[in-house]
Amino acid sequence: DTPPNADTTASADPRHSALVTAARGGRARHTPVWFMRQAGRSLPEYKKVREGIPMLESCAMPDLVTEITLQPVRRHGVDAAILFSDIVVPLKAIGVDLDIVAGTGPVVAEPFATRADLDRLPALTPEHVPYITEAVGSLVAELGPTPLIGFTGAPFTLASYLVEGGPSKTHQRTKALMHGDPELWHDLCARLAQIAGTFLQVQIDAGASAVQVFDSWVGALPRTDYLRFVEPHSRAVLETVAGQVPRIHFGVGTGELLADMAAAGTEVIGVDYRLSLTDAVQRTGGAYAVQGNLDPALLFAPWPVIEARVIEIVEEGRAAPGHIFNLGHGVLPDTDPSVLTRVVELVHSLG
Ligand code: CP3
Repeated sequence: DTPPNADTTASADPRHSALVTAARGGRARHTPVWFMRQAGRSLPEYKKVREGIPMLESCAMPDLVTEITLQPVRRHGVDAAILFSDIVVPLKAIGVDLDIVAGTGPVVAEPFATRADLDRLPALTPEHVPYITEAVGSLVAELGPTPLIGFTGAPFTLASYLVEGGPSKTHQRTKALMHGDPELWHDLCARLAQIAGTFLQVQIDAGASAVQVFDSWVGALPRTDYLRFVEPHSRAVLETVAGQVPRIHFGVGTGELLADMAAAGTEVIGVDYRLSLTDAVQRTGGAYAVQGNLDPALLFAPWPVIEARVIEIVEEGRAAPGHIFNLGHGVLPDTDPSVLTRVVELVHSLG
């Protein structure tokens, strides 16, 4: 028997794509696959078009964004595009003095520390990011049946960059602020939740078919702190776009937080490579679609190793209501792109 939301016929509407079907907990004709950081330095065609253009400048150039976003779709035949942008783009758009430094990541000129710093975080409006609306509109037209994933950083991960002033392994300033001045912490995260929620809404209004909330560094927190200091704000972001398009909630090293991240309001829970999909399904009560979770470093191993692991992950994913194949985190820059193409072909061949 065919379930009502089955993806049995090829459709020109991305809402009937394998990705959206799986995200909604249905059986698609094959396991959909895309890769976090699929656009980027693993592709020679990316390096070519980015030459001489700083990262944040490139994010504000709709024609370039469109080209870069389409590159991995053309090359690998992945089941979704993800908008080429960055989690700090909306912060830059409202006037925060920051830059993305190659090989390092986002760097904030004056790190946030006091209540006065909140004045540097006005509300985001669609008028702040006209280039996002333009890029998404042109991408949706170009992509046809292939869905475009929009995204945002979650409040904790954004706050970490603002408070630390750049990438941090320890998140010491962030944790000190969180525990030392909870009221300021909550006010900061409430502003970031408005910014993140609006950034997602802009992308949905322009035609994105799904969204992912990246809380990349939240795995640094114990569960009690997550629930008290972070979850309400992530929940607010996810709630902003509830009922519109499927939502994916992802973080790294979040095995202990997975059930809470799922319950914060999402259709799909992103799983990094440290936790098996079997455990992820069990920890979230079998109530959510899952996304993941091949270790990006395994792409450097011999093909038979990759092949066996991909098959295993696809099999484990069958226990979830829906499964989107992905890596456990982003594509590493030195990855051989032909291996990624081969992974896509293999996942598709498994049905
Ligand atoms: O293909 C895609 O996944 C879409 C594009 C995308 C980028 N950044 C492009 C980018 C997405 C979804 C992001 C999100 C992002 N940015 C996250 C969450 C995802 C994750 O990895 O957990 C985070 C933490 C950031 C912050 C950030 N921006 C980092 C850590 C870096 C890497 C710094 C470096 O050079 O190693 C960036 C820069 C960045 N964002 C690049 C790309 C393609 C590299 C810049 C370049 O090519 O010069």
